[in-house]
Amino acid sequence: MRPATLAAAPPEDRPTAALVAARSGSAELDEVRAAAAGCRACDLWARATQTVFGKGPVPARLMLVGEQPGDREDVEGEPFVGPAGGVLARALEEAGIDREQAFVTNVVKHFKWRPSGKRRLHERPNRTEVGACLPWVQTELELVRPEALVLLGATALNALGGPELSVLRDRGQALDLAQAPLVLTTVHPSSILRAGEDRDAAFGAFVRDLRVVQRWLDRRALSLE
Ligand code: URA
Repeated sequence: MRPATLAAAPPEDRPTAALVAARSGSAELDEVRAAAAGCRACDLWARATQTVFGKGPVPARLMLVGEQPGDREDVEGEPFVGPAGGVLARALEEAGIDREQAFVTNVVKHFKWRPSGKRRLHERPNRTEVGACLPWVQTELELVRPEALVLLGATALNALGGPELSVLRDRGQALDLAQAPLVLTTVHPSSILRAGEDRDAAFGAFVRDLRVVQRWLDRRALSLE
């Protein structure tokens, strides 16, 4: 499918059109991103500033998937540039992972929020919204083809791994999933911001999970040399 065709797909059909095109090897990230900018597959676009698509190199050895853009991401148009992104950046650095080498994205591409005075408070996307958006992240996976995939928090884990998986039970270990040679889950970085006096311990555990990924990537690079 050529760029014009994908962008010309009806706005509500764009996620599936993009996935079909990616699976047939005829889509590129820029045209997919352009098509996603006009996505109307659920109602979240109406209250969001813009579609926040994934960012990073294509292909990339590592892909990180969060839930949905927050207030800052909605304004800036890039994933993980707000407070949770700050935690993620510090943790990646401590784990020895170069964020610039990773493709970073979310399961849901529009910010879902409710007003609270002058603030916009995050609201969890529901099953319908996650399902409508899922083909976008599947398309990103097709194009990025990561060796390691990290699912940050329950929304990403359950959307891509299934409802029976649990972050608390399954974190930090290889999951039996087909999206990448290594699929691992850990907490969402925003949970560390909410951890109160346990914040340091929560951050340390997050870094330990990311080090599992870093060591695995190092070992794999050596074994492929
Ligand atoms: N939380 C997410 O899940 N993703 C972002 O991009 C920002 C906050």
